[in-house]
Amino acid sequence: MTAVTVSTAPAASLRADAVVIGVAKSSKGLTLAPGAEDVAMAYDGRLVELLGALGMTGAEGEAIKLPAPASSKTGFLLAVGLGDAVDDGPYDTEALRWAAGVAARALSGTGTAALALPAPTIDAVEALALGGVLGAYAFTGYRTSDDGRAPLGELVILTDPESRTAAAAAVARAKVVGQELNRARDLVNTPANDLYPESFAATVQSVGQIYGLQVEVLDETALAEGAFGGIIGVGQGSASPPRLVRIAHTHPEARTHLAFVGKGITHDSGGISLKPVGFNEIMKRDMSGAAAVFAAVVGVARLGLPVNVTGWLALAENMLSGSATRPGDVLRMYGGTTVEVLNTDAEGRLVLADALVRASEDKLDAIVDVATLTAAMKMALGHRIFGVMSNNDTFRDRVLAIARRTGEEAWPMPLPAQLLTGLTSQVADIANSGERMGGGLAAGLFLQEFVPTGLPWAHLDIAGPAFHEGSPYGYTPRGGTGSAVRTLIELAQDAIQRPPNAVDAGGHR
Ligand code: BES
Ligand code: MN
Ligand code: ZN
Repeated sequence: MTAVTVSTAPAASLRADAVVIGVAKSSKGLTLAPGAEDVAMAYDGRLVELLGALGMTGAEGEAIKLPAPASSKTGFLLAVGLGDAVDDGPYDTEALRWAAGVAARALSGTGTAALALPAPTIDAVEALALGGVLGAYAFTGYRTSDDGRAPLGELVILTDPESRTAAAAAVARAKVVGQELNRARDLVNTPANDLYPESFAATVQSVGQIYGLQVEVLDETALAEGAFGGIIGVGQGSASPPRLVRIAHTHPEARTHLAFVGKGITHDSGGISLKPVGFNEIMKRDMSGAAAVFAAVVGVARLGLPVNVTGWLALAENMLSGSATRPGDVLRMYGGTTVEVLNTDAEGRLVLADALVRASEDKLDAIVDVATLTAAMKMALGHRIFGVMSNNDTFRDRVLAIARRTGEEAWPMPLPAQLLTGLTSQVADIANSGERMGGGLAAGLFLQEFVPTGLPWAHLDIAGPAFHEGSPYGYTPRGGTGSAVRTLIELAQDAIQRPPNAVDAGGHR
């Protein structure tokens, strides 16, 4: 794991394998970003000219390595693009996360690197540290050789002496968030033959113990006794039985209680309504919601936030076998609602329904679920944006604002009541699938049926951004991305000052 440290030494005097500087686009062309002044001095004022000649424009994502001058204590220089230059005031925190992430990726195999990027505020320091930790991530557990590309060893954040204490605290926070987000990525990337409900639950138990969290696991016997028909129904076709995991962070000064509920399908084959060839290969990703919830609760606990947060992980493997739920079967969910399973591939809403009802038995101020729920949401919003649906417009807008602040892209989606008629069942209270158009919204409407009226609830459909299939960009690697972890942690942080029930409860139900 990449170490992150703080130093008040001038960049040019540091003994590092690499120094990272920023360049940006301005009306005058390529310009050097603040923080790199003393490094640039060693190039006799020709550094920007040189980088321009090498093809840099200052665009985000650019990275170019240069040999360091003979006089310097540094091995080499790495210039990264920051996008549009900012004349006064700090750079946008997301541009800084990107730049640090790009640098950390470009520096795999390097020992120590100092970041001489603009960090005039504590938020900027935190953004650089987080971008660095996230960009340095690599999933290598299943490689038998590392082909010499070990992650960057140490990232040194430079700050002025007066800000040292605050900067160190910001770096410590960023490390917790980054490490927990990377934990979620690891879980998502772990193949389903190693990560199944029982092993996932065991991981939650051991990590929970380390950080003093309360963990309870309902196994298949307890789920049957408790009448969790949704989780049992989805999990009964698999040789690996389902689990419902509760992980709770409590704080003596807490005034707010949030519940986070995650979809944890460790592999989604579709069940008897089997997915076609080509759609099964990376369905290990279907537990990304549960991974995000787990990582966020641990993150909140490690940060010691004075808020109560209960995470619920609805874990099952959606397989097909002689014991699997058939299309046409009726399940009796936790709480008694009956659901006709018209499509066994619409399984996420079944496990979530049980967990939402159970979670809402606690006294809550708000509840948020996170799920790779529908291909329709991926169609609608693409690979980088998650959809946010809610029974409360004020709460939904708050979630969106929080997501944006953390650097996560999210967009509001409606819950048009008339789409619920598409889920009409001839035999049961509701069907789990129906009309295809607007499928992401219908899934949200289905879930809303299992949330108590008046309780602020948000549904995050992360089917698009949870897993990145293309080339890495910014601080995002291939594979599991850790989508929603930052938004959940920030929601908890935000709830300390402004409990969700303090906002207008009027939504559109
Ligand atoms: N896990 C899938 C959704 C998904 C697909 C996530 C691709 C990420 C990438 C979910 O369980 C599913 O299969 N949904 C169906 C629902 C339909 C049968 C009503 C879908 O979206 O097609
Ligand atoms: Mn499915
Ligand atoms: Zn699924």
